[in-house]
Amino acid sequence: MSLFFGNKIIKLQSIDSTNNYATARMYAEDWQEGTVVQADFQSNGKGQPGNHWESEDGQNLLCSIILKPCFLPIRDQFLISKVLSLSVLSLLEAYIPEVMIKWPNDIYVGQKKISGILIENSILGNKIEYSTAGIGLNINQLIFQSKAPNPVSLSLLTGQSYPVDTLLKELLDWIDHWYLVLKSGKSKKIDLAYEDRLYQKGILAQYRDTSGEYWGRILGVNPIGQLKIEDNMGKTREYHFKEVCFLSSDTAK
Ligand code: BTN
Repeated sequence: MSLFFGNKIIKLQSIDSTNNYATARMYAEDWQEGTVVQADFQSNGKGQPGNHWESEDGQNLLCSIILKPCFLPIRDQFLISKVLSLSVLSLLEAYIPEVMIKWPNDIYVGQKKISGILIENSILGNKIEYSTAGIGLNINQLIFQSKAPNPVSLSLLTGQSYPVDTLLKELLDWIDHWYLVLKSGKSKKIDLAYEDRLYQKGILAQYRDTSGEYWGRILGVNPIGQLKIEDNMGKTREYHFKEVCFLSSDTAK
């Protein structure tokens, strides 16, 4: 049972986006940290900037979680992304092997994306006032219509179907776990666990940035969350989100 996250779960049948709903209401209704909004369907689910998040009605986990990590300096905000990625990864590892985190916070099985995370922060001074952490996890959907390059669901991988609410509870338990690790100052443990499961880390693969395509190896992530790739000339390149394309998976179908 979850200790803290999911103390209050607001369950909706249909909404434009759980992230929009949660962000709009949390001020007006003074929501506590750990409040969760879950929906069966989103008419305008938000993916990473510019993308739509596809999810068939009632088939998948769609939720937004309110965090208030005011103990965390802004320079460390990527730790929130790591905590959520590790929580989804830990949940899925109980069901399937070879789950990885594709930088910054996509969850992959092999070359396919099973979950995406959208974190929207409100910054006040030098602190994170609150984060709305939206998680989309594909559970029972069997056919995907959108142009997303490589979606997959738990059902497609195992041939079984799963109760969405049970998976939400298990996810919230894992968020409790990893958030407590963060709060107790053990961020090194989070860094190590994240890098240990970082997709394509140390593997020679093809990437593209503004200077063109090249072969390189992911070294890890720097403290501000930039991806570090060593190119085949031995030079380390560092990227913010969307500044580099993974040619193996971003364009695959
Ligand atoms: C991505 O593109 O990888 C991020 C996807 C995030 C989707 C989730 S579904 C629940 C929450 N509400 C939204 O509108 N988006 C997030």
